Amino acid sequence: MQTVQDAPALRAAIRGWRSKGQTVGFVPTMGNLHAGHQSLIRQARARTDRVVASVFVNPTQFGPNEDFEHYPRTLVQDQAALAEQDCDLLFAPEVATMYPFGPQHGVSLHVPQITETLDGAHRPGHFDGVATVVCKLFNLVQPDLAVFGQKDFQQLKVIERMVRDLSLPVRVMAAPTVRAEDGLALSSRNQYLSVDERNKAPLIHETLHKMRNLLNEGHAWRVIEQVAAASLERAGFVVDYAVIRCSEDLAEPRQGEHGGLIALIAARLGHTRLIDNLLFD
Ligand code: PAF
Repeated sequence: MQTVQDAPALRAAIRGWRSKGQTVGFVPTMGNLHAGHQSLIRQARARTDRVVASVFVNPTQFGPNEDFEHYPRTLVQDQAALAEQDCDLLFAPEVATMYPFGPQHGVSLHVPQITETLDGAHRPGHFDGVATVVCKLFNLVQPDLAVFGQKDFQQLKVIERMVRDLSLPVRVMAAPTVRAEDGLALSSRNQYLSVDERNKAPLIHETLHKMRNLLNEGHAWRVIEQVAAASLERAGFVVDYAVIRCSEDLAEPRQGEHGGLIALIAARLGHTRLIDNLLFD
């Protein structure tokens, strides 16, 4: 596997493949790769001739009090993990490559509506940073297919909308969340958890299933949300949201609506913010 840091080297590699008529799959990441990322690479590998991954800890998607400085940077291990999955090329740019005018002074994309709720409300500006960097990466890699994890469901929806609205020639694919045996969704941030917090963390996944069961039993979604938040809080979580929404646009369900719903939770244990979701269909 080749690792490149700058745009001309990336473009040269991709031009070579394109000249042979090969298709390109792309998996953008912030590194510190785990089995969840590896499964995204496999999804791309199964569908395109060549696979590119990026590792870039994107400063514009972190808020002022978030973990940008401390976000785990493990490039050597990431290279090994990608090579193991038969990834063809790793793009690991410097900040100046992605933001030639500096992170605060470049073009910024805003995807309206869908970013105004849930994580968008709790992490102001986060999705502007995500949309901006993903659009820049798409321009650089020009993939046929890009694979994103379903764990970051709102991010997936933001990117789908951006791609559609800007007519970007890339197919966006969602890959299922990879979980530990006890149900905890894999995330680079899980390593911040203490032993006690790690033992509690699977309650998020259990609560999502409980929400689905309660809905199937005919309980009202607003009541289910209260029950879910209360049970997480009793266990020591600080809950940002525990909600049932329409999976298409993340709007509140309409009266009597039961199809196309999703439960989403974001909750903090100590300093670690965890998110997860469960599609009901
Ligand atoms: O999901 C992530 O790891 C990041 O938000 C992404 C899509 C790589 C953009 O920085």
